[in-house]
Amino acid sequence: MFPKNGEDEEEVLEELRSKTADDLTFDSGRILGSMCTYPHPFAVKIIEEFLDRNLGDPGLHVGSQRVEREAVNMLASLLSLEKGYGHIVSGGTEANILAVRAFRNLARVEKPELILPESAHFSFIKAGEMLGVKLVWAELNDDYSVNVRDVEEKITDNTIGIVGIAGTTGLGVVDDIPSLSDLALDYGIPLHVDAAFGGFVIPFAKDLGYEIPDFDFRLKGVKSVTIDPHKMGMVPIPAGGVIFRERKYIDAISVLAPYLAGGKIWQATITGTRPGANALAVWAMIKHLGFEGYREVVRRAMELSRWFAAELKRISGVYLIREPVLNIVSFGTRNLETVEEELKERGWGISAHRGYIRIVMMPHVRREHLEAFLKDLREIVRKA
Ligand SMILES: Cc1ncc(COP(=O)(O)O)c(C=O)c1O
Repeated sequence: MFPKNGEDEEEVLEELRSKTADDLTFDSGRILGSMCTYPHPFAVKIIEEFLDRNLGDPGLHVGSQRVEREAVNMLASLLSLEKGYGHIVSGGTEANILAVRAFRNLARVEKPELILPESAHFSFIKAGEMLGVKLVWAELNDDYSVNVRDVEEKITDNTIGIVGIAGTTGLGVVDDIPSLSDLALDYGIPLHVDAAFGGFVIPFAKDLGYEIPDFDFRLKGVKSVTIDPHKMGMVPIPAGGVIFRERKYIDAISVLAPYLAGGKIWQATITGTRPGANALAVWAMIKHLGFEGYREVVRRAMELSRWFAAELKRISGVYLIREPVLNIVSFGTRNLETVEEELKERGWGISAHRGYIRIVMMPHVRREHLEAFLKDLREIVRKA
């Protein structure tokens, strides 16, 4: 019911705190199965100060628009592209939808089809449905990367693009993007790389010496990349990123917004009014941490995941789905459903809906949290 009379701020706040008291919080260390994390305090400061900026009407906030462009170019440069075209958007979902939309609009075929791995994120299901694009699913290899031969077999005159994933949602697997890129070039079809998660991990992990295939714009077939600052970038939600190699992709999805207070513009994002503060926070966090700072975050996360995977292997009745590639470790157990239920009852933020439990070593996850989790897991599996 809409209240007739207002209440004191303090009273409202108290009520809100009590209503959300059963939320799991990232700083509790109990959330182990999420790709989000506790935002960096500096990013929170930026959001507070610039909360009113609206990038949907950039004529009013021209400085913020410039900063967004700089943030896009910093992300492009992390992805080996000197100048990129794109936006800081609401998340990986919007970024993927925009890429599919650009490919579809440029392809101009009557019955558009998109080839994507069976491991692709469900955001592509939304994209397919909204954009009238048929999804053609490509099989996976035994190591859960996409089978490139199957992708090739599925190419038709209606194919508007191919998707490769750099850091799958379930297992953190990086597809063979170099081969997908070659294929895309051979057939003259654009390749979109969904690095929503891996974008803020792979460049740093490679620099640390981890062997991971190339996945970015240095591969000429790659025409667009999704990279999400609100995952490993530690920027508050919402902050996704989509970067295109060329301007024509942005032009293909821009519509005229004629009536804005700041003057008419061409708008490519799905959201109209959209938070400028989060784009500024992306810029600020990259400036604040720099490559070295993020590399340190990734080093910790990668080391923790290797240690955790080794610990899991020592528990009888527990098995790894595959060796970790990034900072995601997924495992199965005997009587998985019972184990999942028990873990949840003990307050762990995990899920097993794909047939395994996925642990994501986000910056808020520390070794002591994992030790406590392992202790519970050992007890539960012994009884299961
Ligand atoms: C690979 C991948 N792509 C896209 C997304 C969607 O991102 P968002 O939830 O920010 O829309 C996710 C989310 O987990 C993801 O793992």
